[in-house]
Amino acid sequence: MRKQYRADGLDESELAADPMEQFGRWFAQAALEGAVFEPNAMVVSTADAEGRPASRTVLMKAYDAQGFVFYTNYGSRKARDLAENPHVSLLFPWHGISRQVIVTGTARRTGRDETAAYFRTRPHGSQLGAWASAQSSVIASRAELDAAYEELHTRYPEGEQVPVPPNWGGFRVAPESVEFWQGRWNRLHDRLRYVAEPDGSWRVERLSP
Ligand SMILES: Cc1cc2nc3c(=O)[nH]c(=O)nc-3n(C[C@H](O)[C@H](O)[C@H](O)COP(=O)(O)O)c2cc1C
Repeated sequence: MRKQYRADGLDESELAADPMEQFGRWFAQAALEGAVFEPNAMVVSTADAEGRPASRTVLMKAYDAQGFVFYTNYGSRKARDLAENPHVSLLFPWHGISRQVIVTGTARRTGRDETAAYFRTRPHGSQLGAWASAQSSVIASRAELDAAYEELHTRYPEGEQVPVPPNWGGFRVAPESVEFWQGRWNRLHDRLRYVAEPDGSWRVERLSP
């Protein structure tokens, strides 16, 4: 399982001034090289009010100067955690190119307009799926889920507009720190971390691997 990681490093001199810009560069490379399956898949870790952690994979659907956006059910465990404790960690595990990006920050719900605009881009079946599933709740059987979907499909056949579920929408994670990790030889990896300063600027620090 042990692998020697590639030699090309990450140097302070080549970093963008802003972590979202640097993320954009790496994301483009992850997507281009084809070596990363679903480069927008990220592990979101939350903790409840007592500090109990939970992690799961979600798809990042947008990123901009304000942060990283994903969509989910507002009744799900992650959303309940975030309502109690907005602190969150995101991890992009880009093993195929010996990189990872780790973000810490706080999550806020996206506005309803932004949520609706994204919901409209989803395939009809996924729109119905968002209605059919009370995410993270216990259900009796698969049949119950399929029956809920079938009922919705009868109500909203293909071509019919599906309303945005009120309990479904986005979260935008505003970063407080963003670490860019590049695997290198002999476990002497590069780790450069942007940390937000109170005045809105970013400090970059190098971490020991
Ligand atoms: C590749 C992949 C992508 C996923 N994308 C999403 C997503 O964008 N939104 C979402 O709510 N769940 C997504 N899931 C499912 C979540 O991992 C998780 O099962 C679900 O959100 C419930 O999590 P929770 O009970 O911790 O809230 C994805 C799972 C995988 C494996």
